[in-house]
Formats: sequence, structure tokens, C-alpha cells
Amino acid sequence: MTFLCLEGVGKVYGTTVALDRIDLEVPAGNRMAIVGPSGSGKSTLLRVVAGFEMPDSGRVTLDGQVLADGASFVPAHRREIGIVSQDGALFPHLSVADNIGFGIDRDVPDRTERVLRLMDNVELDRRLSGRRPHELSGGQQQRVALARAIARNPKLMLFDEPFSSLDAGLRDSMRKVIADVLQAAGMTSVLVTHDQVEALSFADRIAILQDGRLVQVGTPRDVYFHPKDPRTARFLGEAIVLPAMLGDGWVECGLGRISADTVGRRGPGEIMLRPDQLCLEPVAGGLPASGSNPTACFGRITAVEFGGAVCTIGISLMKGSPLAASYSDGPAANVDFKVRGLSIDLPPIGEMVRISVLGQAHVFDRTT
Ligand SMILES: Nc1ncnc2c1ncn2[C@@H]1O[C@H](COP(=O)(O)OP(=O)(O)OP(=O)(O)O)[C@@H](O)[C@H]1O
Ligand SMILES: [Mg+2]
Repeated sequence: MTFLCLEGVGKVYGTTVALDRIDLEVPAGNRMAIVGPSGSGKSTLLRVVAGFEMPDSGRVTLDGQVLADGASFVPAHRREIGIVSQDGALFPHLSVADNIGFGIDRDVPDRTERVLRLMDNVELDRRLSGRRPHELSGGQQQRVALARAIARNPKLMLFDEPFSSLDAGLRDSMRKVIADVLQAAGMTSVLVTHDQVEALSFADRIAILQDGRLVQVGTPRDVYFHPKDPRTARFLGEAIVLPAMLGDGWVECGLGRISADTVGRRGPGEIMLRPDQLCLEPVAGGLPASGSNPTACFGRITAVEFGGAVCTIGISLMKGSPLAASYSDGPAANVDFKVRGLSIDLPPIGEMVRISVLGQAHVFDRTT
């Protein structure tokens, strides 16, 4: 069931089109992530939903109630929407307990106990309840902001880059706390983030904004393996984009013949693979004789970048490789790309490798 619904929502600032006729549906209980380059309209979208901005056109509804449509506009404080922003925006003169209890009526009998339970929910030590925000770490402040937002039991939670000021370890633990809190409450949420990995791991569905337009909405797997166009593909992670010949259930490219859903298309096209789909095997003693395995594909390691858990290996396709050779006059000649490597097993520069592809290639739409 659609819970939050945006229909044709537009917002213009002077000559900047911040939102261009956005249609977006978020089902009840879902976690939606909005990603997109800086300036693509992500925060504007959240602000329109929260009620801090009035859209110039279109309609916003939440749980069947119209929040904005032409002249009709429900103000932010009457929307039952919680928001956690990058800086937490806590009241500096109030204690942790008073910040969290801000939205709970003074005459609620178990108010103090509720505040302490909310602190437990966000894994905040109860002994911090008397402190002021400036006496807390960044991660603790974010937890207070989260507890304060959920204290009102909102229908919808919005997060605008809530983890961006935290270091990697804290980001992970905050993300888990937020996911658990949302799950336990069955709350619907929208998260804006710059971090594609965060979006892919946190959300049920991802919406990609570019220049104020919604270019694609889908599950994390959908958008990662089947991006609409090369720009979207690269935005969501490292992508190997190659020209290819499309056949019946396969494509032929610089990496050989790869299984693909060519959706009835034939002839020249463009495909994408994620580096995680490539397997490298060292080849001892040079290239095997041409013809021994006509589908094999070989490359040479050109760069190795050590990055701890994430290491990057640069590869150049070998001209001597039978398939690369057959493309040497074609568009896929001199293909260079990067793949991920294991820190404990990085190949030396110059090593020759056999490259095999796992899974299917993604064929881009002809129209993009
Ligand atoms: N109050 C405003 N007045 C004028 N222009 C604005 C205003 N708010 C946003 N904009 C413009 O609208 C566009 C979208 O801004 P928005 O803040 O939504 O981007 P964003 O996707 O959140 O970017 P970032 O990732 O950098 O936070 C930008 O070009 C921005 O300069
Ligand atoms: Mg923003």
C-alpha cells in the first residue's frame, strides 16, 4: 500500500529547477533511499515532504492525507513527520533528556521513563541524560536527535545525510541502530545519502535523482545491476561499460561472449558489467596457443592500489588474447578497467591473468 506519494512535484528557485515533476511512491513500512550528485535536489525533496518548503506544483500525500496540493498546505508541525539532519540540530541549552522529551507532553505520566526507554532504544547510556549537547560526541548527538525524532511516534521518518559527520565505524553502528529502531516500530522512512554503499545496504528501494529529475527507482539489486544509463551505472559504483554485439541471449565484447538478456535486440549496443563479476586467474608461462580455447580472455595487471579491505587492481586487455584480437580493430580495443582484489592476495604488476565473467551482462537501453 502506498503510504507516501508524490505526484508531479516541482520546485523552482529563481532559474534553478530543483525538482522537476517528481512522481514517487513509498509503500508503508518501507525504507527508501534517495541518492544523486550534489545539487540534484535530494534535500529539497525531503524539505517539501517535511513541510519546510511549499512545492510550486504537484501533490504530496501521506497515509491518505493531502499535505500539499496547490493552495492547500499542512504546516510542518502538523505533519507527524520526524526528521534527522546532518548536524542533528539539537537545542543547545536543553539537556539530553529535555531534548528527547521535547515533543512529549509535560503531563504524560510516565514521561521520564519514556525518555529513558527511548535512550535505551538508540543505545545511549542513561547516565548521559543530564548532559548538554556540547558535552556529547558526534555519534551520541546523532542518537539524541534520532530519539527526539521518534519520541513523537511519527508516521514517517526522514533522514538527510544523518551519518555524514561520523567516522566509518560509527556510521555502521548508527545505521544499524536506525534500521533496528525503524524495523521495531514498523516505520516508513526516507534516507538521503551521498554514500552509495549506505543506500544499497540500508534501503528496500532506491531513487536516483539527477538535475532535479527522478531517473530510476528500484530495489538495490535492480539499480546496481540494471542501471538505466552509463551515468547512473557509474554513480552507483565502479562500472565496466563496453561496446558490444548483441545476439540471442548473449553479447560479444572485449571480454568475450557473455550471457545477457538482450530483450530481443540484435546488432551493436552498449553493455555494463560490475567489476565484482570478473574473476582473475594467474596464467603461468605466457598466453596459451591461440585456438586452444577461443572464448578465453586474457589481461595484464597494470596497477595495484592497496586500500585495506578494498583493494583495486587495474587491468589492460591483452592484444594477444584471441577475443581481444578479434576486436582489435573494433570499438573495444585497448580496454582498461579496474576490479576489486583481496588484500592478502594481490597480484604483482605485469602479471598475466585469465579473465572470466560471472553472471550476466546488462544491456543498456538503446534510447540512452
Ligand atoms: N533556498 C534556496 N534558494 C535557492 N536555490 C536553492 C535553495 N535551496 C536549494 N537550491 C538549489 O536547488 C538545487 C538543489 O539543491 P538541494 O539542496 O536539494 O541539493 P542536494 O541534492 O541536497 O545537494 P547536496 O548533495 O549537495 O546536499 C541546487 O542547485 C541548489 O543550489
Ligand atoms: Mg542536501
